[in-house]
Amino acid sequence: MKNNYEKEIKALLKKMTIEEKVGQLQQCGPSLVGAFDVSFDELVNMVFDGRISKAEFQNMMSSAKQDFHEEDLRAGKIGSYNGLNDAKTANELQKIAVTETRLGIPLLFGYDVIHGYRTVTPIPLAESCAWEPELWERTARIAAEEATAGGVHLTFAPMVDVSRDARWGRVSEGAGEDVLLSSIYGAAKVKGFQGDDLTKEDAMAACVKHFAAYGAAEAGKDYNRVDMSMQRLFEEYLPPFEACVKAGARAVMPAFNDINGIPCTVSPWLLTDVLRNQWEFDGMTISDANAIAECVTHGIAENTAAAAKQAIEAGLDMDMTSNAFSDTLVKMTSDGAVSMEVLDRAVANVLRVKFELGLFDHPYRTSEEREKAAMLKPAYRSLAREAAEKSIVLLKNDAVLPLKPGLKLGIAGELANNRGEMTGAWAIKADGEDCVSLIDACMAQGINYAYIDQNTAIPEDCDVYIAAVGEVKNQSGEAASRASIELPAEQIDLLKRLIETDKPVIALLFNGRPLAIPWVAEHVPAIIEAWHPGVEAGNAILNILFGKVNPSAKLTTTFPYASGQCPIYYAHINTGRPGGKSKFTSKYLDTPLVPVYPFGHGLSYTTFAYSELQVREEQEGVTVSVKVKNSGDCEGVEIVQCYIRDIVAQRVRPIKQLVDFSKIPLEAGEEKEVVFRVPYHKIGYYDMDMNYVVEEGEFELFVGGNSVDCLSHRFRL
Ligand code: GLC
Repeated sequence: MKNNYEKEIKALLKKMTIEEKVGQLQQCGPSLVGAFDVSFDELVNMVFDGRISKAEFQNMMSSAKQDFHEEDLRAGKIGSYNGLNDAKTANELQKIAVTETRLGIPLLFGYDVIHGYRTVTPIPLAESCAWEPELWERTARIAAEEATAGGVHLTFAPMVDVSRDARWGRVSEGAGEDVLLSSIYGAAKVKGFQGDDLTKEDAMAACVKHFAAYGAAEAGKDYNRVDMSMQRLFEEYLPPFEACVKAGARAVMPAFNDINGIPCTVSPWLLTDVLRNQWEFDGMTISDANAIAECVTHGIAENTAAAAKQAIEAGLDMDMTSNAFSDTLVKMTSDGAVSMEVLDRAVANVLRVKFELGLFDHPYRTSEEREKAAMLKPAYRSLAREAAEKSIVLLKNDAVLPLKPGLKLGIAGELANNRGEMTGAWAIKADGEDCVSLIDACMAQGINYAYIDQNTAIPEDCDVYIAAVGEVKNQSGEAASRASIELPAEQIDLLKRLIETDKPVIALLFNGRPLAIPWVAEHVPAIIEAWHPGVEAGNAILNILFGKVNPSAKLTTTFPYASGQCPIYYAHINTGRPGGKSKFTSKYLDTPLVPVYPFGHGLSYTTFAYSELQVREEQEGVTVSVKVKNSGDCEGVEIVQCYIRDIVAQRVRPIKQLVDFSKIPLEAGEEKEVVFRVPYHKIGYYDMDMNYVVEEGEFELFVGGNSVDCLSHRFRL
């Protein structure tokens, strides 16, 4: 039950000056003051294009001080900070806000806690492959416990951008290509971050992002345009955000991109009509970094003042570090260019979240003692290991895995021996040294192994070879789109040299996006997708390799055959000429029609058999039942997937849409009946007038262990 603070908010607004109101809308990112005479952004660019080395950059950063603009804070010009990450600084700044400003309004501290704080769990794309909402909520909970101990009040997560183009680097930050999974994933994360009482010291407000359709950036190029029908937007990109709002998210971050020519940051249709009027959202919105000012660059506003006016009138409440609001809103409100009502509405939204977090009564929610005691608890590490084990996908296994104890492993590839790379993108508080690499785990567990670096000849006395290939963490995440998502030649070459040993070879993938791995799929007998698995990487991988844990994860994103296949996804339409053998069909001349691995794919060390699919039409929906048997010789967990197709409709419909799933443990030989109840509203769609319709007609229902190999049943409603 959410408390109501409207009386307190109104009373406070009455006391506030225009300057103090605008101050509440300013999120300050601590600027760096140091021994360099260029801006921080320019410094980052210098590293990026190699003008300075990473070591030089680190050295400069170590001598830099953070400037928190305390004088502006004392003057009531700052309402929030981003990028603050320690309890001491948080409490010092909070003390200034509460005791040295005229009204003592507490600060709100935001931070990117995307997949863990210090205990880094697998990247979201990896964890989504667990198909386990309870796990998603649990890892969010420990992230909140750590981060709030570090002074964080609000996280810029979950990211629920549906993405079907693996060239886009930020696919790593979300739950993949499916609408239903992204919706369930996002809601679970909101609940985990926020807990059941926002005033508790370990509750962290969730800021769902990036609203909206950022994952549909043209050509998979970050920040690029998004242009699509309202039907597609409401059917495929908005539902995860609605699910997060319904789950109680207290903040929403508009995306950098435009939708059909209107940047999300200044879109009244998106930020007010949809978010507030249709979904009844009453939290706060906060721009992405510098996004208000960048609306001038977009070409929607002639100057920063115009951008600020458009943004706040559209329903954007807080300015993340662009200073557009702080530079222009006092004057615009004073001279009436922006109404006091609009300004008060934005301030009220921000104050509401601060009241809900209990910051007025308890502005100091953490301490250095709590912070010290909170990090990297053994229970957190074991949950991180569980999450990694449930995220690792067995893509291929031609009788190589699980490995028998005592075998000598020949391990090659720098990614097997690099702790820092195990954190993946957006692990900004993490210390890579907290991670366990595969080599670390082999040493700690007394595994018989040889590490083969690029200067070492391949030892001939190994029983099996493991090639760690894929991507370093900076190849995914923000501003990390890639036009080519194939493995680099040197990694293919390493695999070839290992295959020449005529011993079993395992390709161990570390990556933040689907990769185009047709050669690997064809020539390497075993392939494990480990993603960037977090602090317990090496231990989780060894547990999978030696069968202590039977892999159960399933892909939540399609693995293309080639970069040129992107975007590629299972829930595609049929077209009038579905790709096939004859020439005049929808396909490529130079690439197979199908992906290398489809959505929902993932193997186990056992096998599962499906039988007796039954579909019964009932009052509220269809009831689906199917028998699933563990037909192998060891226990396993199967993720049973249920898809539907609307055969004929007023608009063409996807050939499959996930409508439900169930994750079930089965002992060897055990059989269970799985029942899905698919309400009719789940199989509706938007007609050309944007009416949501559920029609009678012919449907096909599919159930299986992936999106391709399914039992199916046609029926009429
Ligand atoms: C970045 C990202 C956003 C993040 C924000 C704050 O540009 O787009 O996801 O939360 O800035 O770091």
